[in-house]
Amino acid sequence: MKVVILASGTGTLLQAVIDSADETIDIVAVGSDRPCQALERAEAAGVPTFCVEYMPKVTDREKWNRTLSEKIAEFDPDLVLSAGFMRIIGPTVVERFAHRIINTHPALLPSFPGAHAVADALNYGVRVTGSTVHVVDSGVDTGPIVAQRAVPVEPNDTVETLHERIKTVERALLVEVLRDIAQHGLTIDGRKAWIEHP
Ligand code: GAR
Repeated sequence: MKVVILASGTGTLLQAVIDSADETIDIVAVGSDRPCQALERAEAAGVPTFCVEYMPKVTDREKWNRTLSEKIAEFDPDLVLSAGFMRIIGPTVVERFAHRIINTHPALLPSFPGAHAVADALNYGVRVTGSTVHVVDSGVDTGPIVAQRAVPVEPNDTVETLHERIKTVERALLVEVLRDIAQHGLTIDGRKAWIEHP
């Protein structure tokens, strides 16, 4: 399975996928919206990279989406993985790779969508949060859910400590889900998404 991975930050999720990639998963490129450590990790691993820079208030969003879409298409992926990509992917990209983009989110969706999921869960006072892998649709973190795993919130947690524990779970879940999709494919029917195990 040829995978293009999109990331914007430190890229520890990306690194987990790089480290676990076996013959079923071929990371054909890593793309970003900004210069970041994730791109450096990809370069260090010998994976081709691209950056379609997004500058708030300056970048034309539609043009940016078209360029991103073209860049991804150059690598002809079977799957696009958003792993810590901190930009909303527009309809141009979502429609072109429909049902082939998955995202990992640091909360149990549909609770706490958006860019501040860990802080939002902590501030709400939930006792359990977690990690969700879902198909990307035209909404913000609204697509069909592929897998979820829970993480308890500890009384003394800060955003940083909680996010670190969630990311430990996210890395393992993501690697498992990718391997499962590579081996068995992903079936999507309306709001339901599942991996057909033999
Ligand atoms: C992960 O927790 C991922 O779920 C989150 O960014 C982190 C990336 O970590 N993504 C979002 O919040 C997207 N809304 P990393 O840079 O260490 O891989």
